[in-house]
Amino acid sequence: MLLFALFACAPDADSAPPDSGVAPDVAWYGDVEPILTQSCSGCHVAGGVGGFPLDSYATAAPMAGAIADAVEARRMPPWKAVEGCNDYEGDPSLSAAAIKRLRSWSDAGAPEGNAADSAPGAPPSSVLPRVDETLELPVAYSPAAGVDDDYRCFLMDWPRAESTYVTGYRMLPGNAALVHHVIAYIAPASQLDEYRALDDADTDPGWTCYGGPGLSNQADAEWLGAWAPGGVNGEFPNGTGIPMRADSEVVLQVHYNNRSGDTEPDLTKMEVMVSEEVESPAYIQPWTNPRWLDGSGMDIPANSEGTTHSFSLADTWGTFQVHTASLHMHQLGRSAFLEVEHEGGDKSCLLTIEDWDFNWQRTYVLSEPVTVKKGDVLTVSCTWDNPTDEDVNWGEGTGDEMCLGTMLFSY
Ligand code: HEC
Repeated sequence: MLLFALFACAPDADSAPPDSGVAPDVAWYGDVEPILTQSCSGCHVAGGVGGFPLDSYATAAPMAGAIADAVEARRMPPWKAVEGCNDYEGDPSLSAAAIKRLRSWSDAGAPEGNAADSAPGAPPSSVLPRVDETLELPVAYSPAAGVDDDYRCFLMDWPRAESTYVTGYRMLPGNAALVHHVIAYIAPASQLDEYRALDDADTDPGWTCYGGPGLSNQADAEWLGAWAPGGVNGEFPNGTGIPMRADSEVVLQVHYNNRSGDTEPDLTKMEVMVSEEVESPAYIQPWTNPRWLDGSGMDIPANSEGTTHSFSLADTWGTFQVHTASLHMHQLGRSAFLEVEHEGGDKSCLLTIEDWDFNWQRTYVLSEPVTVKKGDVLTVSCTWDNPTDEDVNWGEGTGDEMCLGTMLFSY
């Protein structure tokens, strides 16, 4: 905040002298178009998850004030990791200079400028160096029109006949207007009966699942990866790969939102890259208090604010690397963090989220892996506001809560 204030008061090298008589110095072409193309148009295009397009002068100019407000408040582009905790790959946050440019454009009445200055660039796209397998929902699925939140799990065959490592993936939502987030879980042979029973018991394709894949103990779920709009998936970092046995399958949890009454069904796909060998076998490790899971140990009293529950455990098994971090709560979550306290007291912040939004869960890839050694303590901490008249505890329902960190570990 202080830095931003200093910046805002510094002499502005970009602005023309007040009496120069030239055209306004911040225009759509050359100034605003590149920022919006690179940071916004991945979602704000016709039919995109952003709900309205911001990909042309005609669509963006009437929104100039709202755009400046949204970026100044850092609501847009959505990115929940607080600055200063750690550095992450693919951080789309706008620089203070870009935010200032969008405000100046709005203040100047959203001038168009000269089309000859157009140099929009391109939104970031996620690509895999190689696509080895493409998994697809078993059937195209349509959430009912007007339904806000439909959490569906689908069991998908795993095509490989020998054990491999998954070394990267990319989610391809079939109908981007409907798909709010996707989480992929490994379904090992030992869990397949339970998943098949869930599938059989639900008359629609797949089964309803919330907060996990629907297992009787959701903390047993083995994560493979997650995607939310704007999230860029690709190759796993630092030569890591997640072991995948031939007799496992994959469960895809898709969160559909059909407020708009879209009728085109969704056929989400997951492209996967596999490898026989990897430098560092890795696992997605959930981090949570086993005592919370029976639904009695994580009280969030009715009509309360700022209830915090934390769980810390010392590493007793040796040195490992943390490559990614993500946090998971439900609708009442307010803030959460994951951190390592090293022996001697130094701390590594892995991820801090101060304005939790259930709709913007994603995996944050650390620019540099964090090494955890024997004796270091890993903590997950969550804080909730509960304005309802019901006491809330750990559970699967939309009205229940969770507090879960997940990290990609390698040894
Ligand atoms: C990852 C997808 C995504 C990206 C990237 C994104 N938006 Fe959005 N935006 C949304 C969604 C979805 C909404 C609807 C409100 C919500 O769910 O938060 C929205 C809402 C808005 C709104 C209206 C509500 C508000 O918070 O003011 C504005 C203005 C906006 N976006 C501007 C932008 C701008 C400017 C950028 C780029 C700097 C951007 N968005 C990038 C998805 C995105």
